[in-house]
Amino acid sequence: VSPPVPPSPPGAATIRRAQLTDAPAIAALSAELGYPADPNTVRERLKRILNHRDHHMAVAVADQQVAGWLQAHASDMLGSGFRAEIVGMVVSQAFRRRGLGRLLVESTVAWAREIEAEMIVVRSNVARAESHHFYPALGFAIWKTQTVYRMRLVPPSQ
Ligand SMILES: CC(C)(COP(=O)(O)OP(=O)(O)OC[C@H]1O[C@@H](n2cnc3c(N)ncnc32)[C@H](O)[C@@H]1OP(=O)(O)O)[C@@H](O)C(=O)NCCC(=O)NCCS
Repeated sequence: VSPPVPPSPPGAATIRRAQLTDAPAIAALSAELGYPADPNTVRERLKRILNHRDHHMAVAVADQQVAGWLQAHASDMLGSGFRAEIVGMVVSQAFRRRGLGRLLVESTVAWAREIEAEMIVVRSNVARAESHHFYPALGFAIWKTQTVYRMRLVPPSQ
């Protein structure tokens, strides 16, 4: 009986700036995050985001596919100074615990240092259990707990 073949080691992941052709993959991953959107809507949003110089829009590529994305933006806060904020991030279920999330956040830290942000902030829903292990493991500390309110001005498109 031949010994079981060990799974092939995962290839190295790379982080790069998102591009418009990533829209379908980003849309599919957004659905995993709980924000389903059609690729055309995502493409339009991406087009706007990529035109903003104060946004960091990165994707993680592993096994020749886009397996995660992260969006961050810079804001000048009157009360707390110049910050970078991670406003969305997801790694595909099939690619988790392979370090892609860490690489995406590291790319954000590098960008935030480059723009001389004083801190990086991220709000994560209490329901996102993995994220509350992930961010502390990367050196983030709980700052505060908030309630998020919204007022819709137009009906949801999706
Ligand atoms: C949170 C998330 C982005 C992490 O991505 P990931 O690629 O799996 O994370 P990494 O492999 O880089 O993990 C880095 C470290 O974080 C910690 N970590 C990550 N996921 C964890 C989990 N489920 N349980 C415990 N620790 C975890 C570990 O310390 C891990 O290092 P290790 O694997 O060497 O032990 C991913 O789980 C995800 O997309 N979740 C759903 C969406 C979400 O919560 N997004 C964030 C909202 S702001």
